[in-house]
Amino acid sequence: MTTVLVTGGCGFIGSNFIRLLLAEEPATRVLNLDALTYAGNLENLADIQTSDRLSFTRGDIGDRALVESLLAETPVDAVVNFAAESHVDRSILDSDPFVRTNVVGTQVLLDACRRRGVDRFVQVSTDEVYGSLGETGLFTEETPLSPNSPYSASKAGGDLLVRAYCHTFDFPGIITRCSNNYGPYQFPEKIIPLFIANALADKSLPVYGQGRNVRDWIHVSDHCRGILAALRRGRPGEIYNFGGRCEIANIDLTRELLRLLGKPESLIRHVADRPGHDMRYAIDCTKAERELSWAPRVAFAEGLSQTIDWYREHADWVARVQSGEYSKYYERQYGTRLKS
Ligand code: NAD
Ligand code: TYD
Repeated sequence: MTTVLVTGGCGFIGSNFIRLLLAEEPATRVLNLDALTYAGNLENLADIQTSDRLSFTRGDIGDRALVESLLAETPVDAVVNFAAESHVDRSILDSDPFVRTNVVGTQVLLDACRRRGVDRFVQVSTDEVYGSLGETGLFTEETPLSPNSPYSASKAGGDLLVRAYCHTFDFPGIITRCSNNYGPYQFPEKIIPLFIANALADKSLPVYGQGRNVRDWIHVSDHCRGILAALRRGRPGEIYNFGGRCEIANIDLTRELLRLLGKPESLIRHVADRPGHDMRYAIDCTKAERELSWAPRVAFAEGLSQTIDWYREHADWVARVQSGEYSKYYERQYGTRLKS
């Protein structure tokens, strides 16, 4: 048996990754450390919670005593760090939790892992650390870091600490940077699940500005396969980019969602643009293809319809995660009530 500590395993990508890891590796045990913030939900692992290879600890990656005692109790072979504050708009409203979790939390994990001599540490990061592209070009692993939002700056801070630990202490860290994910269990504050949920409820879809900003979409299952490949086949000290080679402007994505849902374009509401809004992200993932024998598999049209079906079938899940704290955030962000 090998043991992998997954942090943030109750969030969107972390829960999809744990499901993949347990299915792909029958001799792997998973420890899931998650603080259960508004974005973390044990229900995301309901179908696998009875597995005797999965255990859960509720806690903060920035809690040094807790992290050290967890690693002392159970020897861990590898760590995959998903735990993060992940939403750009929230980082504009309040960057405090972003710096605490994404920077300081990463540092606490790195220190504890270094002391315990873990064999691998995968830092799950984002293409947003590279900043914004114009109409042409792609981010490669060599693109200089140029983060523009408090979210991406805090992720870049975590990445730079991983890089520094690799360089200074010969620490076996690997950084993965992925483009925008979509798929099941994504919290409905991000554009795709938010717009599906709103359209299903005949509520307006708030498109920032003219909706000309471009994102490169990848299905979460492809991202998770990439992280697993980096964990098992990646070289320590390296960075691997993952992307879906699927660029689409927000307004075209919005129209496509409405078409697939059979809802009218009159639901589109252009609202004030996001401050500092990055224009375009697009990833060159040839290094991951070459070195990790990885490639994205899910075609966007197929993945998007499956995702719509998932949200239709999980209306209860959406209603539960949208209750409480989220409705206050929605009102503050969009100046309108979530439930009317
Ligand atoms: P998410 O917001 O859905 O989940 C984050 C999880 O981390 C939640 O379960 C939350 O409870 C947990 N968490 C937050 N703070 C914590 C703390 N201090 N200690 C322990 N747990 C904590 O995020 P996601 O979309 O699943 O993203 C996961 C990772 O992937 C993040 O590091 C993010 O930066 C990165 N990423 C996301 C995308 C994307 O499109 N969603 C793309 C590239 C990279
Ligand atoms: P988001 O899902 O927040 O991901 P990120 O900012 O990390 O790329 O946003 C994706 C794109 O959708 C981004 O260009 C901002 C835009 N957007 C809207 O137009 N309206 C919204 O309500 C949200 C949440 C995002």
